[in-house]
Amino acid sequence: MKWQALTLPALANAALRFGCSTLTVQRLDPVVEPGNAPSAHVHQIVGGNAFNATVDTSVDVGKRATCTTCVFSEDKSNYWTATLYFRARNGSFHRVPQYPNAVFHDGQKAGMTIYYTQESFYDNNLRQKITAFPPGFRMTVGNAMAETREEAVKYRSLRYTCLQDILTRGRETYELPKEPCPAGIMAIHHFPACWDGKNLDSPDHQSHMFNTAKGGFQVADPCPASHPVRMPQVAYETMWDTTPFNDKSLWPEDGSQPFVWSTGDSQGYSTHADYLFGWEGDSLQRAMDSDCFFQRCAEDRPGGVLKIQTPEEQNACTIERTVYEEVDGWLAELPGKVQVF
Ligand SMILES: *[C@@H]1O[C@H](CO)[C@@H](O)[C@H](O)[C@H]1NC(C)=O
Ligand SMILES: *[C@@H]1O[C@H](CO)[C@@H](O)[C@H](O)[C@H]1NC(C)=O
Repeated sequence: MKWQALTLPALANAALRFGCSTLTVQRLDPVVEPGNAPSAHVHQIVGGNAFNATVDTSVDVGKRATCTTCVFSEDKSNYWTATLYFRARNGSFHRVPQYPNAVFHDGQKAGMTIYYTQESFYDNNLRQKITAFPPGFRMTVGNAMAETREEAVKYRSLRYTCLQDILTRGRETYELPKEPCPAGIMAIHHFPACWDGKNLDSPDHQSHMFNTAKGGFQVADPCPASHPVRMPQVAYETMWDTTPFNDKSLWPEDGSQPFVWSTGDSQGYSTHADYLFGWEGDSLQRAMDSDCFFQRCAEDRPGGVLKIQTPEEQNACTIERTVYEEVDGWLAELPGKVQVF
């Protein structure tokens, strides 16, 4: 044991938190439905411009992409979730806009907040080696078909916070909030972080990974022997600006809440997210091996190790549409004729 202790690499305590502007909003899903344009339901996607209907595991996304909507310009990964829609009393739908999180550079366009942490980013960190994802790696979390609470609670780290203000945290629920939220709804997705050490993907896009996260950024449990490799703990926060729709006279007469996912889900149980790794070269490993924390990971800060770009550069990264349909404005039905359940 003494020898092992002597030869272990220096352990780090890095935690990344950064904003990514919206790249595109389309019915595409290269992980779950490769080649389908359109896929079943609408997604909102952030990250690099190699995103397309098909991106197979042989593609090094970090090499193929030429720009990204994320602050850290070496991060060409793609991150996506379903989109939230408001259903008006007359049955029409309107996509709920997203807004950037607190403590970010001004000027980012909608998008999401992305985290890469250790088992926790609090000071009771277990400080084990974190291994970055390999090129071609992808995973999903959640069940887009889930209709019941029993199905949803299997994913204990996918929840909602009813935002009283932009900094509200905690009081997470498995259901979409039942009352109007003064600053919108935050959807939270924590991914599993224990890898089987072999597979870039699996038939269900989940079984090559094992979840030990408990949600709420609590310290995760150790990885099991079947999935021994501790990867970064990836999490998304998406800030849905429901405030234009908070007038209860617009809500259903039966008192139920009016927001539905693009999957048709009116409860919130189908919440899910996809991850497609695409950091350039060793940039993610370099960051996870450092002691940088949040904004201090930027290269212009002492100890910072990652290149950054301006919000204008983030917002300038776009892709051509491959699915030509209206996803915004008032819609008579959800894109894909998805039925509400
Ligand atoms: C996506 O794939 C289509 C069809 O192969 C191709 O024409 C298009 O250039 C690709 N878009 C991007 C952004 O790579
Ligand atoms: C449905 O209701 C919304 C919100 O009140 C309104 O803006 C929209 O025009 C209506 N659509 C139709 C088809 O009446």
